[in-house]
This record gives sequence, C-alpha cells and structure tokens, in this order.
Amino acid sequence: MKVTVVGAGAVGASCAEYIAIKNFASEVTLIDIKEGFAEGKAMDLMQTASLNGFDTKITGCTNDYTKTAGSDVAVITSGIPRKPGMTREELIGINAGIVKSVTGSILEHSPNAIIIVVSNPMDTMAYLVHKETNIPKNRIIGMGGALDSGRFKYRLAEALGCPQSDVSCMVIGGHSDKGMVPLIGKATRNSVNVSEFLGAERMQQVVEDTKVGGATLTGLLGTSAWYAPGAAVSELVKAIALDSKKMFPCSALLEGEYGLNDLSIGVPCILGKNGIEKIVEVSLTDAELTKLQESAEGVKKTNGLLN
Ligand code: 2OP
Repeated sequence: MKVTVVGAGAVGASCAEYIAIKNFASEVTLIDIKEGFAEGKAMDLMQTASLNGFDTKITGCTNDYTKTAGSDVAVITSGIPRKPGMTREELIGINAGIVKSVTGSILEHSPNAIIIVVSNPMDTMAYLVHKETNIPKNRIIGMGGALDSGRFKYRLAEALGCPQSDVSCMVIGGHSDKGMVPLIGKATRNSVNVSEFLGAERMQQVVEDTKVGGATLTGLLGTSAWYAPGAAVSELVKAIALDSKKMFPCSALLEGEYGLNDLSIGVPCILGKNGIEKIVEVSLTDAELTKLQESAEGVKKTNGLLN
C-alpha cells in the first residue's frame, strides 16, 4: 500500500511516523509546499527505521504531485492549525482553498485514492471534498471522531483510575468544541457501564474535558496537537490496509442516516479496503439524538460559509 500525506508539519509528520512504525504500508510519501521540508522530515524518519524496526519506505517531495502517483490512500493535513483561543471554524477561509487545490492534485495522479481529511474545520473540509470531486462517498473519510474517541478514552481511564485498554467508548457528532457528542451512556469498562463506577457529576466532567480536548492542548502547546491526530490517522489507514472491518466514528456523508442529510459528520463507520464500507446506525437515546441534531446544525452553519 502506498500512502501520501499532504503537509509535512507536525500532524503530517506524525501521521507518517505512526503509519511507518505500524509497518503495514510499503510506502509513505510526504509532500509539502515548503522547499526541502518534506524531504528533511522523510530523511529524519527513515533514519529511525532500523531503530524502530519498520520496513516502510518514507520519501519526501516539494509540491511535486507526480511523486504521489498511484497512492491508495491520501491524508490531507495541509492548512493552518489553530492558535490558542481560536475555534476550528475560524480556519475555514484559508483552509478551504488549500484543501480544494490539494484534493484536485491528488486525484489527478491517484484517481482511485481514498481521501482522509484532517484539516480543520474537519467536517466541513470533508464535505467540501464531496462537493468538489463527486468521488464515491465511501472514499472520503473525516478523521475527527477517531481522535476525539481517543481523547474520551484517556479522560475516562483517568477518572476510573484504570488503563485505557479497559475502556470502550465513542464520540460522534461534529469535530468541534460544542459539536462533539461523547456517548457517555454507552461507555464501558470491560463491558460494565461506567455509571457503575462514576457519579453523574464526574461523568459530566469527563464529557466536558473531552469536548475541549483539542483546545486544552492548543492552550498548552501554542498550536494544535499532533501525536493523537497522527495516531488516529494511522489507525484508520491501517484498517483500510488490512481490510479489518474495524468500527471507528468518522465524518461521513449522510444521506438519511440518523435522520440527517447533505453533510459530513461523525458517526460509527466500518472501515475496510473500500474506505467507509458501512455507516452503522446505533440506537441513540432521545437526548443523544437531540445533541447529534444540534451538532449537525452547527456543522451545516459552517458549511454555509464555504461559498
Ligand atoms: C485536534 O483536535 C487537529 O483538530 C485537531 O487536535
């Protein structure tokens, strides 16, 4: 499998690193507009291959999309990241133009690629790719829910005082501070509902901390996070590479699922060699469904800024 990662900044480099370390792809191509930058990151990462024990070949190039030809998956991380105090939605003006042009260049050289969108505002950028390309909807995947679920798991494990491997949970809805819907009512510790271990107030705190997970890190780091976004992307790419049929919440184009239409938003998806192979409609409580509908309204409002 060949994977292209567009943008060799912290998030893009982290995607390349985790994909390589997991050793399922034959090749990762990093591409960036900054002269020599992707080449440098690729060389640095390749010098970890013997140390980290991977065989994936990582190459870098400056804005030369011919080098990305034949990619099975393309990850779009390019655009500006948010700064402390900024919302993801504020990035739309600059990032929409970048995502549009990058997608065109990718598809010119890899017409069958599955596109994973990371650039923010992520749900709207995934919707933009749908609108601009008309490629089948199973081939456009927004990454946010996998990342937000990782953050939810971290917060739940912290509250439960247990390893994250004990926890199973999911965040659906938009990838925004207000739009995320952590499904706390469905979260379990080894199949036991977390409400058996945590009081209502503590659970609500976990939900709130999860929703501002990205903003908390932006405040601490001065820019947006990269390790967990990179790890989340690598898991999605791995599910495609291995055709594993694993379920992740991803931003997918909805056509009636959950009563929603004409937007891309986080819902449980089965991932395999064809990208999103199925959107899973889990039963939601009235309260969860209302939150998802409110989240969808927010995403649609941001989509409305595209023109
Ligand atoms: C985040 O939440 C990059 O949107 C991303 O960290």
